[in-house]
Amino acid sequence: MRIVENVAEMRRLAEAWRAEGEKIAFVPTMGFLHEGHLSLLRTARGLGTKSVISIFVNPAQFAPTEDFASYPRDLRRDLDLSAKIGTDIAFTPSAEQMYPEGFQTCVEVGRVTKNLCGASRPIFFRGVATVVTKLFNAVKPHAAVFGQKDFQQLVTIRRMVKDLNMDVEIVGHPIVREEDGLAMSSRNTYLTPDERPIALRLSRSLELARQLVNAGQKDAGAILKAVSDRISEGGGAVIDYARLCNTETIEDVEIVDGPTLLALAVWVGKTRLIDNCVLGGEP
Ligand code: PAJ
Repeated sequence: MRIVENVAEMRRLAEAWRAEGEKIAFVPTMGFLHEGHLSLLRTARGLGTKSVISIFVNPAQFAPTEDFASYPRDLRRDLDLSAKIGTDIAFTPSAEQMYPEGFQTCVEVGRVTKNLCGASRPIFFRGVATVVTKLFNAVKPHAAVFGQKDFQQLVTIRRMVKDLNMDVEIVGHPIVREEDGLAMSSRNTYLTPDERPIALRLSRSLELARQLVNAGQKDAGAILKAVSDRISEGGGAVIDYARLCNTETIEDVEIVDGPTLLALAVWVGKTRLIDNCVLGGEP
């Protein structure tokens, strides 16, 4: 696996591959890889003839009060894991490479970014859309894989690619979970042993909502009340949001009468966890 730190070099290599008729599949990440990321990488390998991972903790998507400085990092391990899967290039630019002095342009996606994480983290999706655009321009992928764990991010990237005529196929990947149901996340490493069972309430409450919908419950208020009660029971968890939304517009719905996103963000101690599922059929 080749390690590329420089934007110009990444572009040169991508262009050379394209000239040879290779198909480039890409997985953008912030590193501290877990099985979720690796599963995306395997999917990417199957989508193209060359696969690229980027590992870049993007300062532009963290507010000053958030965990940019303490975000877990282990580049050596990430590179080993990526290489073992057969990834062709790990693109690991520095912040100076991505945001040189004088940088002043950003990509802002509209309505789909306003609810959920966009409401709690106002600068987040601008940072994500901007860095993903820059990464696409460096890696020049034919296809890029994004996890449904960050459902609103996936919808935002699809919207951006469509609206800006970007020539990249966006492929969604199902959420990868620990055996006990906890959605894998680099931030799970923040959880203390006492907090871990509390964190499980997210996936358990999604399961509860699924059961309610299967039993005929359609009322969003009733479902969200049951979900919130399940998460709050026993203390130790503070709900940032629990919402039922249209899977394409990410706007709140009152009634679950088709594929509907149930999205959660919950603070367990100092850790903000997100999880989601689609109720009422696949989107
Ligand atoms: P990061 O949180 O590192 O996630 C990288 C990719 O892995 C995203 O597409 C995310 O949805 C996916 N992912 C993470 N955990 C997953 C899980 N348990 N199951 C399935 N997919 C999972 O998302 C980002 O980085 C950044 O915002 C980024 C897109 C790289 C822009 O900086």
